[in-house]
Amino acid sequence: MKTVNTISELRAARAELPEPVGIVPTMGFLHEGHLSLARRARHECASVVATIFVNPTQFAPEEDLDAYPRDLDRDLALLEGAGVDLVWTPTPDVMYPPNFQTWVIVEDLTRVLEGASRPTHFRGVATVVAMLFNGVQPQRAYFGQKDAQQAVVVQRMVQDLNYPIEVVVCPIVREADGLAMSSRNTYLNPDQRQAATVLSRSLKAAKLAFHAGERDADALRAIVAEVVASEPLAQLEYISCAHPETLQELDGSIENGLLSMAVRVGRTRLIDNLVITGDSGTRNVKT
Ligand code: PAF
Repeated sequence: MKTVNTISELRAARAELPEPVGIVPTMGFLHEGHLSLARRARHECASVVATIFVNPTQFAPEEDLDAYPRDLDRDLALLEGAGVDLVWTPTPDVMYPPNFQTWVIVEDLTRVLEGASRPTHFRGVATVVAMLFNGVQPQRAYFGQKDAQQAVVVQRMVQDLNYPIEVVVCPIVREADGLAMSSRNTYLNPDQRQAATVLSRSLKAAKLAFHAGERDADALRAIVAEVVASEPLAQLEYISCAHPETLQELDGSIENGLLSMAVRVGRTRLIDNLVITGDSGTRNVKT
C-alpha cells in the first residue's frame, strides 16, 4: 500500500492503478463502518484508493475541529489490512491553498435535517468530495448510509456535475447493542455510551410499529420521540420522516421514507437513520 500527500504524487500513483478504481473518502480514526466500505470497494474494484482528510470547511466555528480524533498510523494499518492500494492524506494547505474561493453548493437538499442546524456543513462536504473525486478520478465511490443526507447530497452532485462515478451507499455498521459506529462515539463516557443506544432503540420501536401496520408519518416520528424522551441523558434535536431522495418531510400514510434523527448525549451530537420501505419493510436496524 502506497501513501501520498501532494496532488502531483497522487496523480503519478493514480496513473499506475488498474481500473475500475474505487474511492473510500474518510476523515480517519477508522472503525468497522469505514472498513466495510473499503472491503466492499476491494471486492468490486480493481484498485482501491482511500483518503484521510479531516476537512476543516465542514466544521462550524463552534465545532471543535482540533478535538476531532486522529490516529494516522492505526488508520494506515487498518486500510492495509482491508486491501487498500493507495491512501491519499492531503494536508489542509494542499486542499485549501491561500486565496481558495471556489465552492460546490447543493441547494435545497442541504437546507433541511443536518443542514438546518449546520448551514455551512454540506458546502464543505460537497466541495471536498468534488476535490477528492477530481484528484482520484474514481469510477466508483463508497459512502455509508449512516450519513444518509451526505449520501443523497453526493449523489445529487454527481448527477448535476456529470461525474462519471457510480455512488455506492453501504449499510450502517452497528455495535452489538445497536449503536451506529461513529468516530464521535469515542467522546462518550460510560453512562453516555449506554444512553446513546436510545437512537437505535427508538428507530427499532418505529420499525416494529411499521411492521405492525403503523403507516402515519407523524405517528412514526412520535414513537421515536417518545423513546428518546425516556432517556434522561439524551436530548432530541430533530426527528424526521422524509422522502428518501428529496428529503422533504412526509405527511399522512407512507409506504417509503427515511426516518432520521439527531440526538445530543452530553456535548456529543449523534445521528442515526432507518429506511422504511413498504415492499421489504425496513433496512438498517437489526431486529
Ligand atoms: O463522511 C465523512 O467522513 C466526510 O464527510 C467525508 C465524506 C470524508 C468528506 O470530508
